Amino acid sequence: MVERKSKKVSESRVEMTELVLPNDTNQLGNLLGGRLMHLVDIAAAIAAAKHSSRVCVTASVDEMNFLGPVKLGQVVRLYASVNRAFTTSMEVGVRAVVEDLRTGDVRHVSSAYLTFVAINELGHGVPVPALTPETSDDKRRFEGAQLRRNARLRRRKEILRNEVARLKKEPKKKKSKR
Ligand SMILES: CC(C)(COP(=O)(O)OP(=O)(O)OC[C@H]1O[C@@H](n2cnc3c(N)ncnc32)[C@H](O)[C@@H]1OP(=O)(O)O)[C@@H](O)C(=O)NCCC(=O)NCCS
Repeated sequence: MVERKSKKVSESRVEMTELVLPNDTNQLGNLLGGRLMHLVDIAAAIAAAKHSSRVCVTASVDEMNFLGPVKLGQVVRLYASVNRAFTTSMEVGVRAVVEDLRTGDVRHVSSAYLTFVAINELGHGVPVPALTPETSDDKRRFEGAQLRRNARLRRRKEILRNEVARLKKEPKKKKSKR
């Protein structure tokens, strides 16, 4: 049997810094939630790609809460790391904080768990290296990731079941004559 390669959490850790500019904000000069979600997705995708050395796609994002406003001119810092690797998928955790450069205040604004799947050129999932947790935080996140995955996959099953039921109820479309 081929031994599955293993990588440390620290090998795929990502830190990303962004300045909040006018295009990122609403009429009140607050960062748009969707823009923060985009930054979180990018930071997480880079961590997943570093771990797997593959292109990775977002399979799911767990809930996101925005704990307070981020203003124009403030700096957003994102910290992303792989919490656990499964077969072709990985859970990535991202923490976003905002820093006010004038006062030096740093505040937590949002955290999220995302699942990425490593894919090949045909879009098929490919196995990823195992993950070795090192610190006590790595170990806590590693343990939690298994429980969160179970809940996520239960939810996915439910969504797919509802989709099948919906399609069964939908009236069949007539084939167009051409
Ligand atoms: C994500 C994707 C590759 C999964 O492929 P699939 O053939 O549908 O699913 P599979 O059942 O083969 O699962 C592949 C892996 O993804 C995981 N997975 C699939 N859907 C998931 C979900 N909603 N949440 C968490 N994990 C999920 C599975 O558990 C499996 O992980 P494992 O190999 O580590 O056990 C596929 O659905 C896809 O390409 N989705 C679109 C991705 C995308 O374009 N994202 C950007 C936003 S549009």
